[in-house]
Amino acid sequence: MTVTSEPTTAIGAGAGAADPRIRDGRLVPEVIRAEFPILATTNASGRPLVYLDSASTSQKPQAVIDAMDTYYREYNANVHRGIYEIGERSTAAYEAARTSVARFINAPDRHEIVFTRNATEAINLVAYSWGRKNIARGDVIVLTEMEHHANLVPWQILVQEKDADLEFIPITDDGVLRLDVFEVLLRLKPRLVAFTHVSNTLGTINPVAEMTRMAHEAGALVLIDGAQAVPHVPVDVQAIDADFYVFSGHKMLAPTGSGALWGRRQLLESMPPFLAGGEMIREVHLRRSDFNEIPWKFEAGTPDIAAEIGLGAAADYLGALGMGRVREHERELLSYALPALAAAHPDLALYGPMDPGIRGGVIPFNIPGIHPHDVAQVLDRTGVAVRAGHHCTMPLHERLDLPATARASFNVYTTRADIDALIAGIAEVKRVFGVFGA
Ligand SMILES: Cc1ncc(COP(=O)(O)O)c(C=O)c1O
Repeated sequence: MTVTSEPTTAIGAGAGAADPRIRDGRLVPEVIRAEFPILATTNASGRPLVYLDSASTSQKPQAVIDAMDTYYREYNANVHRGIYEIGERSTAAYEAARTSVARFINAPDRHEIVFTRNATEAINLVAYSWGRKNIARGDVIVLTEMEHHANLVPWQILVQEKDADLEFIPITDDGVLRLDVFEVLLRLKPRLVAFTHVSNTLGTINPVAEMTRMAHEAGALVLIDGAQAVPHVPVDVQAIDADFYVFSGHKMLAPTGSGALWGRRQLLESMPPFLAGGEMIREVHLRRSDFNEIPWKFEAGTPDIAAEIGLGAAADYLGALGMGRVREHERELLSYALPALAAAHPDLALYGPMDPGIRGGVIPFNIPGIHPHDVAQVLDRTGVAVRAGHHCTMPLHERLDLPATARASFNVYTTRADIDALIAGIAEVKRVFGVFGA
């Protein structure tokens, strides 16, 4: 089916002055927290939940839960099919979610938003559809050393199949991309450059617009993995000027099973389908089929309707807070957390750039002599939830010569009190393991 293109406006500038979640132009996380039911819960020993694992998945506000709940309670029906009231309502809500997502990242055309289950599926879509059509023997794809496995393994499989090559932009010891080496790699005339906007492990915010410009000058297409950016920094795909931009819903306050690929219309139109079946066709005969127009060409089968409606609600929710304010909130929190952690625990190893101006709300750390899994387990007893392990960036951990790290990460509901709880929790970890060093 066709839905008329609605013009999208610039990224949500935020709610009006009367919004209690915003004071003096700043987010008030203590007020925002109250909109997330899970943050009022306690663990088995009655300790309040201190959730510092938002880079893994974010919590969901009542507005998002309600949007999905209303769909199931009031108009649960398949999309693009039902010639009856609730079917039309569900199609309208699903397509309105697409418009919200387009507006949120300032996509020029809502038809350039393809709903996917997550960022991983969006990258695989590009690797299978664009990649198999356009990558040939000897071609080069440039990635970086800091990629999540989701933006690495699909390209490994592609180059193995096509006998093509991968090259990697290295990082400095502080976790910043070496653009001088990128410049040299671009002399190889890569077909594609794919990199993360914000590192899920180190928090580094990469200069995506500059990198895109450099790649385009060398004739390469650009895919940006925005899984850790879209929830935390203003994203304007027109200003960045990349060719593909992908993200997951569940890290941006939306449910699991939601996500999106943004791609330039001409590129999406030139690409063959990824998955095939219902929804993605216009006409089917026994021996051949005509495919639907974008974005439905890439949305085979019944989609996760409730999840994408939830994604639209999350985009509206964050748009009302204002992504500039979200970024500022996390930058301030980082400016508080990094020195506070270092002052309370001088023995703590902290990784990633120490300048909050180029870093999102992600703090990987190690306590010397204690395995990160043990750190996370004892922190959990104090109510503090952090992630421990390689965070799906094994090559990055290899580069930094680290088997694993513990990682605390923020979102709009994170407060200074959460950071204080982490600092106290680390003291408890040291007490349990008898570490009384610096
Ligand atoms: C930077 C980055 N890219 C991609 C992904 C993959 O996201 P998903 O598992 O939702 O597909 C993640 C998830 O942690 C991530 O942090």
